[in-house]
Amino acid sequence: MSIPEQFIQELKSRTDIADVISGYVQLKKSGRTMMGLCPFHNEKTPSFSVSRENGFFYCFGCGAGGDAITFIRRIENLDYVEAIRLLAARAGMTVPEQGSDDGTGRLRNRIYEANREAARFYHKQLYAPGGRRALEYLRGRGLTEKTIIHFGLGYSPADRFELVNYLSSKGFTQAELIQANLANQSRRGGAFDRFSDRVMFPIIDLRGNVIAFGGRIMSDIKPKYLNTSDTLVFNKSRNLFAMQFAKNKAQGRLILVEGYMDVIALHQAGFENAVATLGTALTQEQAMMIKRYCDEVIICYDADEAGQKATARAIQILRPTGLRIKIVTVPSGKDPDEFIKSYGEQGSARFRLLLDKSGNDIEYRIKKLRSQFNTDITEQRVEFLTRAATLIAAIENPVERDVYMSKLSTELDVEKDALRQLVSRNLHKNAGEFRRQQQRSAEKQMGAAGDQMNPEKRMNLRAAGAEEALLSLMILNPDCAKDVAGNVGPELFVTSFNRRVFEILRTRVNDNQEITMSDISGQFSPEEMSSIARMLTSHPRESDPASAAREYVQVLTEESEKLTPEQIANADNDTIMEKLRKMKEKKR
Ligand code: UTP
Ligand code: MN
Repeated sequence: MSIPEQFIQELKSRTDIADVISGYVQLKKSGRTMMGLCPFHNEKTPSFSVSRENGFFYCFGCGAGGDAITFIRRIENLDYVEAIRLLAARAGMTVPEQGSDDGTGRLRNRIYEANREAARFYHKQLYAPGGRRALEYLRGRGLTEKTIIHFGLGYSPADRFELVNYLSSKGFTQAELIQANLANQSRRGGAFDRFSDRVMFPIIDLRGNVIAFGGRIMSDIKPKYLNTSDTLVFNKSRNLFAMQFAKNKAQGRLILVEGYMDVIALHQAGFENAVATLGTALTQEQAMMIKRYCDEVIICYDADEAGQKATARAIQILRPTGLRIKIVTVPSGKDPDEFIKSYGEQGSARFRLLLDKSGNDIEYRIKKLRSQFNTDITEQRVEFLTRAATLIAAIENPVERDVYMSKLSTELDVEKDALRQLVSRNLHKNAGEFRRQQQRSAEKQMGAAGDQMNPEKRMNLRAAGAEEALLSLMILNPDCAKDVAGNVGPELFVTSFNRRVFEILRTRVNDNQEITMSDISGQFSPEEMSSIARMLTSHPRESDPASAAREYVQVLTEESEKLTPEQIANADNDTIMEKLRKMKEKKR
C-alpha cells in the first residue's frame, strides 16, 4: 500500500523525532543535538544522537540511524506502513485506507491470507481420516490436545494437490501460492503442494500473522524438516519460533533452544518463554530481537557436538548485545524435548532444576577449558588456572569475579589469594583489551552497515566522499538542492547507492516536493537510512552551501572521468594509454 504524499507531510509536521525517541530512550540536551544510550546496541556511555532540527538520529557506536519512521521500524520491528500507522495513531491521525495501488503491498497481503488459510486447512486435516497417523504421531510424542491447538499444529495430506486445489477454490492464484512458497511450480507450468505427508508447524510473527511453516516427516526420509523458504513476508533470520507467545512470558529471560519440538515440549511443561531459531544458526537480528524483550538468555541446545558448536557461536552473537548469557547442558545426550519426555510427570520439575543450575557463559568456558587439562598434574593445573584467570578477569562485575574465584579455589584446592593475584594481573593486562575487543567486534558487526550499503565506496573513496557531501548538502539545504538537481545528472555519481539516493532526491525536488529524511524514508530500508544518517552526521550544515556544492560537483566531474578499478583491470592497452595521456594533459 502506498501512503498519500499529503498524509506523510501532515504526519511529519505533527511528529517530533525527539519526542518519539524519548518514549524509548532517555535523552539529554548536548549543544544542538540530544544524546542518550543507544537502544540498538549495549553501551555505557551515550553515543546515540538525535538532531531534532534535522529530524534524524544516528548512533556513533553501532551506526544505526534514520528518521522517526526508521526508528520505529527498527525498535518495534515493523515494516514501513506499519511504522507509519503507529506514528499516525500517536499523532491522532488515521492512515487512509485507499485501494492498494502498490503491487508488492497487495501481494504481501495475499500471502498473509493464503498462509492463514493454509494453516486452518492443515489443522483441519489433522482431524480428518487421512490425518489419523499424524495425530497419533503428535500424541505419541506426548503432546496434549491443548498444546496441539495452542500451536495450531496440522497435517499436510500426501496427495500433492490438496492444498493447491483448496486454496484455488478460495480464489488464490497459482502465482500467489508459489510466491507464498506453499506450492512449487511443476515442469508443465502448474503448481503442486510444497508440503506433503508432513506434520505442520505454523510460524507466526509478533503480530499474529502466519508467515511460514515447518513440516516434519514421520519417517526417516530426508529432509526431516522442510521449511518455507524466504518470501515477501518471511525472513528466517529475522524471526524466532514461538516468539509471539514467549515475548509476553519472558519476565526478563528467554530460553533459546534448537528445535520446534523442543519449544513445544517446553511450553507444554510450563516454560512458555522458550523460542527457537528456524533451522539456522542464531543471527544478529534474532539476538537484537531477544534483547528487546529480556535481559537474560538461557541457551539450551542439544548436547551433541553440533549443539555445542552452535552454543559457542550463539554466545559470540549474543555477547555484544549485553544480554546476560547462561548455558544449560542437558544430560545424557538428550535434547530438551527428549529430556522432559523421558521423565514423564517429573519432566517439568527436573528441567526447572537444570535451569536453576545453569551457569553463565564464563562458567561454561571455564568448564570447557578444564576438560582440556588433567588437573591432578601440577603443571597442568597451573596452566589451567592461569588460563581460567584470564577468563575471570574479563568479567566486569567484581562480585561475580569473586564468586568464580571462590568456586575454583575450593574445586581445585588452591589458595584464593593466589588465584586473586593471577586474576588481577590479567585484569590490568587483559580486561581492558578484552572489552575493547568486544566493543570493536560489536561495532564491526553492526556499524559496518554504512559501507555494506555501498560496497563500491572502498574502491572510490574520493568520489564517494564528494557524493556524500553533496547529498548531505541537498538534504540539509533545500534551497541549494534545487540548483544542484537542475545542474547535476546522475551519471556524475560513481557509486550506485549514492546515485540512487541522488535520483530519488532529484525527482522529488523537480516535482517541488520536500526531501527531509522522513520524506525519503519510504524508499529505503532501515539499513540504507542508517547509511544516509551517517552521511548527514559527517557533513554538518555548510556556511556557504552554494560554493561548497560547486566544489563537490567539480570533484565529481573529475572522478567520473576516471576509470573504475575494474575497468582499469579489464580495459585494453589503448584505452589505458589514452587515459594516461589525458591525465597528463590536465596536469599541465
Ligand atoms: P533436530 O534434528 O535437532 O531435530 O533439528 P529436533 O528438533 O530434535 O526434531 P525431532 O525432535 O526429531 O522432531 C533442530 C532444528 O533444526 C531444523 C528444525 O528447525 C529443527 O527443529 N531442521 C532440522 C531443519 O530445518 N531441517 C532438517 O532437516 C533438520
Ligand atoms: Mn528432538
